[in-house]
This record gives sequence, C-alpha cells and structure tokens, in this order.
Amino acid sequence: MSGRTPLVAANWKMHKTVGETEDFLDRFIGEIGDLEAVEIVICPPYTSLSAAVERCRRSPIRVAAQNMHEAEQGAYTGEVSAGMLLDIGVQGVVLGHSERRQYFNETDEALARKVAVALERGLEPILCVGESEAERDAGETEAVLRRQIEADLDGVAAEDLARVVIAYEPIWAIGTGRTATPEQAEEAIAFIRSQLAGIDAGAAEAVRILYGGSVKPGNAAELLGREQIDGALVGGASLDPADFLAICEAAKP
Ligand code: PGA
Repeated sequence: MSGRTPLVAANWKMHKTVGETEDFLDRFIGEIGDLEAVEIVICPPYTSLSAAVERCRRSPIRVAAQNMHEAEQGAYTGEVSAGMLLDIGVQGVVLGHSERRQYFNETDEALARKVAVALERGLEPILCVGESEAERDAGETEAVLRRQIEADLDGVAAEDLARVVIAYEPIWAIGTGRTATPEQAEEAIAFIRSQLAGIDAGAAEAVRILYGGSVKPGNAAELLGREQIDGALVGGASLDPADFLAICEAAKP
C-alpha cells in the first residue's frame, strides 16, 4: 500500500457539448455510490466547464480545465487564465498534454510558468509527460522523462511539489489502442518518482503519478493494481459514463 489516494481523471479533449456534459454527469453521479476512496476529476472543454462545476457541486467530483495561459490577463487572443478558471469554480488544470505539445507548440518553458502559476493560484496541476515511439525505440525514454520533469517543474518549490499530479502518457499509447504493459508503465513511473526525489524525497512519495494511454475497462485493473500506478488519465474511454465508472471502480485500493 502506497498510502496515496488514487486519482482518476477524464480527459474529454474536444468532445461534448453542454447538454452532453450534463447528461454524462447526471448518469455518472447517480452511479458512483461508495467511491470515496478514489478521487475523480472531469476535464471537459472550456465551454462545458461551468455546467460541469454546477453538476458536480454536491458530489466529490472535481472539475479541471485542459489547458490555461500563464498570464493573468492581456492581449492573448483565444487564451484563458488561471483567474478565469477559478472564477467559475474550476479546481485543476491539465498541463502539457502531448497533443498540446505536438499540435500547439506547447513548450517546456511555458509549462514551467504554467505549473508555477497554477500552484500559486491554488489550481491542481495535472502535468503530462511521456516519450514518443521513436524515443522509446532509441532507448531515450528516461532521458526524455528526465528532461521534461526537470524543465516543467523548474519553478516549483519543494514544499509545493506534493500538490502536483503527474500523468505518465507514452505518446505511442494515446488513442492508439496500444496500451503500455503494466511493467512498462510501472518502470517509467518509478523512474519519474526517483527524479522527483531529487527535488524533495518526502514529496516524491506523496505525489500521485497516473498512467494514461488507451486505458479501458478491460485493462484498468491490471494497470491500477500496480503499487507505483496511482491512477489514470483516461481519454476515449472516459466519454462513456459506464466505461469511466468501471475504470474508477478498478482504482479502488
Ligand atoms: P486515450 O487518451 O485514453 O484515448 O488513449 C489518453 C489521453 O490522451 O490523456
């Protein structure tokens, strides 16, 4: 037993209108029953955040955004700040998802600022890291993870580290149906934890490190049963309330 509370997050990406968000949550919240032992976070698109906050108000579920800008306000067309998210009751933010790194030029420098701002403002950051298939094949997985962890947590004080959630998401496993084996996921997560120990050994033991990449009801139990894997960041399978519930159930300690 690691003593860390498992956390399962639904990354809806660019899916679900306001109505679809409400339908999902009405069904999901009605079914969660005795899941207090698992922390659940829903990450809808910006347009559904308010509706999700409203629907989750009387439930233990937290709502997080999928990105934010590091500045408080300013001439940044199309962007949203931490203050704006807090203003509508959002409690966390996914940062550095590989799709944002790949398609929207998200850099480690910007991420370091975003993680620091999220912590400063009291938003729970879920920082995503992970290697590409070519990097894994070239034996560079640990070098990539080391570089991302070092750069993205550059602005984080040791006393704040325990408030960061990290998601290990090998890019080759995202949306591909190709899941990392529990051994591969656990090995990478243990490596990430060893890197965090370089910042603060106590906090490194407290940080939740999730696995993400084609997690489904059928493979959740074997992944989430591993000592080092503290939960999951779920894309495709989080769009269906029954599938997502089954994954949350599998995270119960
Ligand atoms: P997936 O996405 O579960 O659809 O592979 C995971 C993610 O991108 O966070």
